[in-house]
Amino acid sequence: MPCHGSNRVTSIALQGVRLKLGTRVILADASLAIGEAEFIGVLGANGAGKTTLMRAILGLLRPERGRIEVLGSPAARGNPAVGYMPQSRAAIGALRLTGWEFVAGVLDGHRLGLPIAGRAGRAEVDRVLDLVGARALARRPLAETSGGERQRLLLAQTLIGRPRLLLLDEPLISLDPHHQASVVALVRALQRELRITVLFSAHELNPLLGALDRVLYLGRGEAALGSVEAVITAPVLSRLYGAEIEVVRLGGRIFVMSGSHDVERDAHQHDQHDTHAHDGHTHDHTHGEHDAGV
Ligand SMILES: Nc1ncnc2c1ncn2[C@@H]1O[C@H](COP(=O)(O)OP(=O)(O)O)[C@@H](O)[C@H]1O
Ligand SMILES: [Mg+2]
Repeated sequence: MPCHGSNRVTSIALQGVRLKLGTRVILADASLAIGEAEFIGVLGANGAGKTTLMRAILGLLRPERGRIEVLGSPAARGNPAVGYMPQSRAAIGALRLTGWEFVAGVLDGHRLGLPIAGRAGRAEVDRVLDLVGARALARRPLAETSGGERQRLLLAQTLIGRPRLLLLDEPLISLDPHHQASVVALVRALQRELRITVLFSAHELNPLLGALDRVLYLGRGEAALGSVEAVITAPVLSRLYGAEIEVVRLGGRIFVMSGSHDVERDAHQHDQHDTHAHDGHTHDHTHGEHDAGV
């Protein structure tokens, strides 16, 4: 994939992609290109297809039509240049592990295609813990870490093996606004420092506003990729939501409203309830087939 827009190398290219789950069309016919070292906020209502698109980019779901290229090759599972933080993170129930052991867990096969072992593997774990500022968590049991600290460890895991592309599926769910802001700032800083392409999905635009380069908004089988100014508009979002949407800007924040409802916020609160219902338990069933990790 040679070029994208302003002479950048393309990281992800979709050409005429159609994605289906069962009989449901998630993407009807999407063509788009994401450049190297772009930070893309992936938005859309619950069920719009954010997770499904990430799974397709990972090669876990084959498009019914069209092509997906990732870092210059067809999407294929087990690409060590792609780091993934799945939305369903129930498997973190192994609370007796230390932070170091948890991050090192990816070395023995949780992520496919990572041939790092022995001393090099240990050095790699130390390196990624340093990158996310979590060296102090290395010896602590996961049981004693906060939600924000665990999020750092999950992020460290995705950085093992020096990926060129990170797919982070709803890293902000169940974090309070303060921790949300620090996760976004950390990902942005790492993305710039390491020149990684990042797809960061979220229900709500506002926590990502200061960090993202472009928005990829999904809805009703369509994908709109562009600047906030181009995509977060009444005509585009009305099409994607299939409802009359009004975009309200207030004090540096942007609200996506349908009548008197903030559609992004409503979806987020619904999801947080879901997450809380499972908090505090250590059972690690998956929450649906399309949420299973790699
Ligand atoms: N086998 C299936 N058949 C039909 N629809 C499905 C199937 N599996 C999942 N879905 C639906 O596909 C939609 C896409 O979900 P998902 O990609 O998880 O969206 P998001 O991550 O944006 O919330 C959801 O509405 C989900 O219920
Ligand atoms: Mg999802």
